Amino acid sequence: MDLQALLGKMTLEQKLAQMSQFNAVFLFRDAGGEITGPAKALALTEDELNATGSVLNFIGAKRMKEIQDRHMQDDPNKIPLLFMQDVIHGYRTIYPVPLGMGATWEPALMEECCKMAAKEAAVAGVQVTFAPMVDLVRDCRWGRVMESTGEDPYLNCLFSKAQVRGFQGDMTGKYDIAACVKHFAAYGAAEGGRDYNTVDMSERSLRQDYLPAYKAAVDEGVEMLMTSFNLINGVPSSGNKWLVDTVLRKEWGFDKVVISDYDAFREMKKHGYCENDYECAYAALEAGTDIEMMSNCYVKNVKQLIDEGKISMAQVDKAVMRILELKDKMGLFENPYGAASEEEEIKFNLCPEHRALAKKAVLKSAVLLKNDGVLPLSDNIAKVAVVGPFADKGMIGAWSCGGKEEEAVSVADGIGALIGKTKVKVVLGCEGTAKEKPDAKEIAKAVRLVKNSDYVVLCLGEKREYSGEGNSRADVTLSEAQKTLARSVVEANPNAVAVLFNGRPLALSDIIDDLPAVMTVWQPGTEGGSAVADLLFGKENFEGRLPMSFPREVGQAPLYYNRMRTGRPPRDPNDNSRGYESRYLDCLNTPLFPFGYGLSYTTFEITPPMLDKTEMNRGEEIKVSVKVKNTGSVAGSTVVQMYLCDRFASLVRPMQELKGFEKVWLLPGEEKDVTFIITEETLKFYSANGKFEAESGEFNLWVSDSAEKGESVTFKLN
Ligand code: NOJ
Repeated sequence: MDLQALLGKMTLEQKLAQMSQFNAVFLFRDAGGEITGPAKALALTEDELNATGSVLNFIGAKRMKEIQDRHMQDDPNKIPLLFMQDVIHGYRTIYPVPLGMGATWEPALMEECCKMAAKEAAVAGVQVTFAPMVDLVRDCRWGRVMESTGEDPYLNCLFSKAQVRGFQGDMTGKYDIAACVKHFAAYGAAEGGRDYNTVDMSERSLRQDYLPAYKAAVDEGVEMLMTSFNLINGVPSSGNKWLVDTVLRKEWGFDKVVISDYDAFREMKKHGYCENDYECAYAALEAGTDIEMMSNCYVKNVKQLIDEGKISMAQVDKAVMRILELKDKMGLFENPYGAASEEEEIKFNLCPEHRALAKKAVLKSAVLLKNDGVLPLSDNIAKVAVVGPFADKGMIGAWSCGGKEEEAVSVADGIGALIGKTKVKVVLGCEGTAKEKPDAKEIAKAVRLVKNSDYVVLCLGEKREYSGEGNSRADVTLSEAQKTLARSVVEANPNAVAVLFNGRPLALSDIIDDLPAVMTVWQPGTEGGSAVADLLFGKENFEGRLPMSFPREVGQAPLYYNRMRTGRPPRDPNDNSRGYESRYLDCLNTPLFPFGYGLSYTTFEITPPMLDKTEMNRGEEIKVSVKVKNTGSVAGSTVVQMYLCDRFASLVRPMQELKGFEKVWLLPGEEKDVTFIITEETLKFYSANGKFEAESGEFNLWVSDSAEKGESVTFKLN
């Protein structure tokens, strides 16, 4: 397609319509029909709607084709619409939420899952997914931590790249869809963990911790980027010229499409940054944001900005060209439907291969937090009581697109399929709402059942709608109803294990001692229950390791392992009784379960790290080796993690930073060597010079199976 020629014949109004994105229903009015509802509220004209560039929120190939057909009739330039959707952790076959996928520590598995999601989405007509979401998350109160792969910049970068590869392939495959990395930038640092709240941080922290995962996606060739709702240094992201133009476009060389988040242009008024829509349009276009999602600032104001000489036609053309280039790259001018196909929707959605992959992902994402010995359960038994509000329903999780809760396997069904339906009995005991009080009658019912059972599986946690966008919580504990239910049931039958469904780390310190065994399965998706059954009965071993610290108390938030050191650290992290130390009077500083932590049905030993030398010059490398051994009686995997600390630098460095890991699978008694290579690159950070560089000096190094264990050794960069 000759895009220059196409651009040359477009009017300004048509260009601005390309730069606008609306809900698909806006375009699905009857031919010549009246413009009503939200489209009317935005005062959109027939011409503006006819020339719209892209849409979001639609379901299925049939609908997509109808909308595209209608659009191709109406658009004066016959430019196909781009269809975008939030395909976050599956389209119809749903795998665990990204936080759960982070717990797999397997970016390659994430890539496979995204490829599956892309296939189901592409045949449903989706051409761009608003994923990956790579916001660094440190505050468990924020509802959107479930959309991220966790608190570690290094791990997040690997998952960011993996998701881009999975969705996009090389952008030539039939089912490849474009990815849109979001939310640029630092949306995960909302103050107090309250969604949409303000963000304020130093440029050092932004560059060091928060930006790398977006940059990783850009380096991997991501086709789009979405700006965030929050402020960066006092300026909303969509209108932030430093962020979008200086950092993203100029420093990183990203010359592809930037879209705003939903209505984020007009929110610049509520932020107090712009007085009216005209100023919103000006700020956003100056910054370099190409598409405005769900508002009308561009279509209604850019003409005036051009007439007044504030914005040039070249700026508009640049934005439109990026959008046309993406459409051209995706082959839409030849085939505006992309891969949309009703037949293939039937063929791929929830097909056995996809379900099997979703199950594999749950198996690898579940984290065993505690096991007093009750697990694994024996399947040579008569009765299992499945108790708790999440016993009989699947949980596909927030942002599950075309996924349906009723298509997901519940824990009761999963166990029933494994050991026989008649052996499984369910009592919910409570509803699972946040402030629920115990119901004595329901609890008595559960107690009666468990007294008469061999095992109890307690399905606890938080409802699906307690996390995700807009769903922050000031209290991240289990409700009184769930805790009382759990305690009563365990007292009646201590052969009990808790399966937690949670979109965030929960604060469990007041219940953990009462539970003989605990695992988290996050929001596991379509195959949750079947995977849980295999894990409970030891058909499979646990492999998950936490991608985010679990606090003792919510008051510790934000809590993350790679924090800065203080001038008054506690002399003993397990003692908070000493005054004038950085401490809480009523809680230790450490998490209940640290980053990187997770148990297995076997045990492992990691030898202290051996370095091939303890000093290196620039350009050289140090080889770090450990031996890891399976010291238990079943096969299993562990994640060998290498952490570093730059002891003294021009700017204070974190206590520990993950710089490498390897997941190893070992048979009982088997031993393997694991090697990490440290180069100058490994040691770089944003120094006081404002440069990304390694400074000479001493570094501590740990190799361990979580962030809070192991003896350090020291080496030096000359
Ligand atoms: C708002 C959310 O913040 C963003 O993540 C999402 O992609 C858009 N809505 C579109 O649904």
